[in-house]
Amino acid sequence: MSNKNSTISFILDGKIVEIDFHDIKPTTTVLNYLRELPNHKGVKEGCAEGDCGACTTVLGELKDGKISYKAVDSCLIFLPMIHGKQLITVECIGNSDNMHVVQQAMVDTDGSQCGYCTPGFITSLFALYKNHNEPSREIIDDALTGNLCRCTGYRSIVEAAAKSCVHNGKDDITVSESKVVELISKIDCSNQISIKTSIQEYFLPATIQEAVQLKSDHPDAIVINGATDIALKVTKQNQLLEKIIDLSMVVDLNQIIEEDEHITFGAGVSLEDVKTVSQQNFPAMYDMLAVFGSVQIRNLATLGGNVASASPIGDTPPVLMAYDATIVLTSVDGQREFKMDDFITGYHETQMMDNEIIKEIRIPRQLDGVNYKSYKISKRKDLDISTVSIGARLKTNSENIVEEICLAYGGMAALTKSAKKAESYLTGKEWSRENVEEAMNLIDEEFTPISDARSGADARRVMARNLLLKFWTETCQLSVVNE
Ligand SMILES: Cc1cc2nc3c(=O)[nH]c(=O)nc-3n(C[C@H](O)[C@H](O)[C@H](O)COP(=O)(O)OP(=O)(O)OC[C@H]3O[C@@H](n4cnc5c(N)ncnc54)[C@H](O)[C@@H]3O)c2cc1C
Ligand code: FES
Ligand code: FES
Repeated sequence: MSNKNSTISFILDGKIVEIDFHDIKPTTTVLNYLRELPNHKGVKEGCAEGDCGACTTVLGELKDGKISYKAVDSCLIFLPMIHGKQLITVECIGNSDNMHVVQQAMVDTDGSQCGYCTPGFITSLFALYKNHNEPSREIIDDALTGNLCRCTGYRSIVEAAAKSCVHNGKDDITVSESKVVELISKIDCSNQISIKTSIQEYFLPATIQEAVQLKSDHPDAIVINGATDIALKVTKQNQLLEKIIDLSMVVDLNQIIEEDEHITFGAGVSLEDVKTVSQQNFPAMYDMLAVFGSVQIRNLATLGGNVASASPIGDTPPVLMAYDATIVLTSVDGQREFKMDDFITGYHETQMMDNEIIKEIRIPRQLDGVNYKSYKISKRKDLDISTVSIGARLKTNSENIVEEICLAYGGMAALTKSAKKAESYLTGKEWSRENVEEAMNLIDEEFTPISDARSGADARRVMARNLLLKFWTETCQLSVVNE
């Protein structure tokens, strides 16, 4: 099926649904769209900002001829972002006459009281069911981090997960999967979609060339990819976003290329996919992403979006600095590259020009004998933004002398910033507690953090000092173990 270049199509209830945006804004969220349908009111709004999971739905995406299932927060997704995908709501999973095993398990374990959160839990459990057989407690907890329940308590819901996810993902939906593959294959995702209404323009380029041409023609347009930052402008601030370039359909921005010396992540690679690749390759990045948002957020949020938003409390920039990553920008005029260290220039400001987008992020492979660590301090462990964070790298020689050190802090200034004074003090000195304590004093001199709702400035200083001490403690233990 070819689209008319102004309509979007997706699969719902076993059929292709087409939307032409005559009487609906392209920035309508999937949540609000579903709530207007007669048969999909199970999905709920709780927070409209990605924190509660009441709006969780599952997106089915065609990957290597099969459907991959991802839990997402429908309150953060604009309708055009689901072009070419399968939208799965709680009603698609089962009903009281034909319950899915995850639903039956929730009944059996008394996993629901008032029931407001239950459809969101069921859809999260369904995604877990499809992706993991006999999941560990850690995997179950991670799958449920993005769902809040104020009445039941989580023990019974965790038990429902453990009881039900034991059938290798096989269910009625497996039976209809080949039909869904057939339907999705009929949707054309290879041509740019341009939606124009009387008040908005929304572009979905299909290639990097189309994306940069659009950015050149419309330098004032807002670029989005996962929209986990930008959607809040609509859902919380009620802004009308007049012009959007949505990169989520550009396949080439989703590539991960593994080479001998580095791994290149397309800017549109989801943080969940970055996390998966990082587990083996970049453990410090993995540790940071393990406490980044929730799986619903990480399935949408992209690495390019986290870097481009240049938030002083963004979680990947300190780690990318520690790994000495390179940010590759592209435009109609060609490519430019910046080290992560130089890319962010101020509060939400970067080197990126109006006609550029981030194409990819290149991370050098870990070097033998070099320690990389990341730590995040936040008010709670899960689904919380950083108060202070650090990405750190250390190379010492056989005499325990520091040859190279990077201490990149988040939350201590208007931008992610290295503790340059501490770094240069420590370089060439012994990696000893005495020297580290002296460097901790330099961190005090170097940063003037702010006080805000998350923390006072003094507490931030203490945290920053102590993160260096923690880094020393863990790396000096490592060298003892290595001996
Ligand atoms: C509930 C919740 C929890 C969160 N938790 C965390 C957390 O733990 N840690 C954290 O750091 N952040 C967190 N965030 C913030 C957000 O998820 C991240 O910043 C995310 O990485 C943004 O990526 P995105 O693709 O969704 O960006 P979008 O919202 O699409 O865009 C964000 C910014 O990047 C720009 N942009 C996106 N892609 C490109 C590109 N290729 N080229 C140029 N510009 C681009 C956009 O113009 C915009 O300015 C959270 C957000 C929510 C809603
Ligand atoms: S409504 Fe709370 S996460 Fe979407
Ligand atoms: S059962 Fe009431 S909020 Fe979860």
